[in-house]
Amino acid sequence: MRALVTGATGFIGSHLVEALLERGETVRCLLRKTSTFKWLQGLPIEVAWGDCLDKNSLREAVKGVDHIFHLAGITKAIAEKTYFQVNAFGTENLIHACLETNPHIQKFIYLSSQAAAGPCRDGDKKKETDHCEPVSAYGQSKRMGEELTLAHARELPLIILRPCAVYGPRERDIYTFFKLLSKKIKPCLSGEDQHISLCYIEDIIQAILLAARSQESSGEIYFLSDGHDYFLEEVGDIFARAMGVKAYRIRVPKWMIMSLASFSEYFSKLFRKPPLLNKGKVEEILQRNWVCDITKARNALGFEPRVPLEQGARLTFEWYKKENWL
Ligand SMILES: NC(=O)c1ccc[n+]([C@@H]2O[C@H](COP(=O)([O-])OP(=O)(O)OC[C@H]3O[C@@H](n4cnc5c(N)ncnc54)[C@H](OP(=O)(O)O)[C@@H]3O)[C@@H](O)[C@H]2O)c1
Repeated sequence: MRALVTGATGFIGSHLVEALLERGETVRCLLRKTSTFKWLQGLPIEVAWGDCLDKNSLREAVKGVDHIFHLAGITKAIAEKTYFQVNAFGTENLIHACLETNPHIQKFIYLSSQAAAGPCRDGDKKKETDHCEPVSAYGQSKRMGEELTLAHARELPLIILRPCAVYGPRERDIYTFFKLLSKKIKPCLSGEDQHISLCYIEDIIQAILLAARSQESSGEIYFLSDGHDYFLEEVGDIFARAMGVKAYRIRVPKWMIMSLASFSEYFSKLFRKPPLLNKGKVEEILQRNWVCDITKARNALGFEPRVPLEQGARLTFEWYKKENWL
């Protein structure tokens, strides 16, 4: 089997490349000249130079592969339109390239996000059949990417996966939470009881590989998480225990986090670097309920999450320590 992985240099993509190679697959990675290859160094991969924004470069990349794992995407951008250019139209470019040069592909997997569906409004777990209400430009762009993908469900065998927040070695956003805990700070952002879903990287990779083998009909969407829902406070406690630290709860009022996002956006425009925090991210952070239901993935894909939060937190912390990130 020959697979093309986009987003291969990133957190999830680099773990997927390793897992595919372990299974004996031939792996081609779509790389940009500007990419940092740290996690791919020394791996026996084929390289296809290209960019999701450049359709011509994608035609060569998709030639002759059996599976396409489309993980390339951006979660932070200076301008809102960039989310749509990459996450939505970049996805459409890849689909079109595939239709033009490799229409008999076995499976096209698009890694969307829980953000595309938006939070749960009624306190229940979000299901695939629920109405999508993304609250950020990122979420809206991932939803648009889903819609542009689904428009070709009759021409290509497609699967869309919607992971919740993923953590593990190499991850850089939840890492900020680990960093604060290492300074004994447990931030509490909205002042409300927030519920979230989480998933350890190994389980997300398991689900992606199961999706590639799945015989389910084209165009199906699956939420992915470790199957539990957590109080945000509880997550802080579990992470702190894994790190062996006692952290103190610090309540951050909404106005403060909104101001931080405004500052961050201002400096990001000044220094031409994507902001760590923006208003869309804050809008996501302040939602009460980000919990998804994975019954469909369990039943249809045979997905069975294996890594409990306590174990995943310990493995992640040990990796951050080993790499001197903490
Ligand atoms: N991490 C999570 O918790 C999470 C949760 C749900 C969904 N997702 C989705 O999963 C995917 C991977 O996430 P991640 O956390 O692994 O992200 P990441 O670490 O930020 O990696 C993003 C990858 O996308 C590539 N990329 C960005 N723009 C590109 C373009 N124009 N053309 C080609 N490649 C491009 C980057 O390549 P360069 O090295 O060249 O920049 C990088 O390899 C994303 O689509 C994201 O929306 C992530």
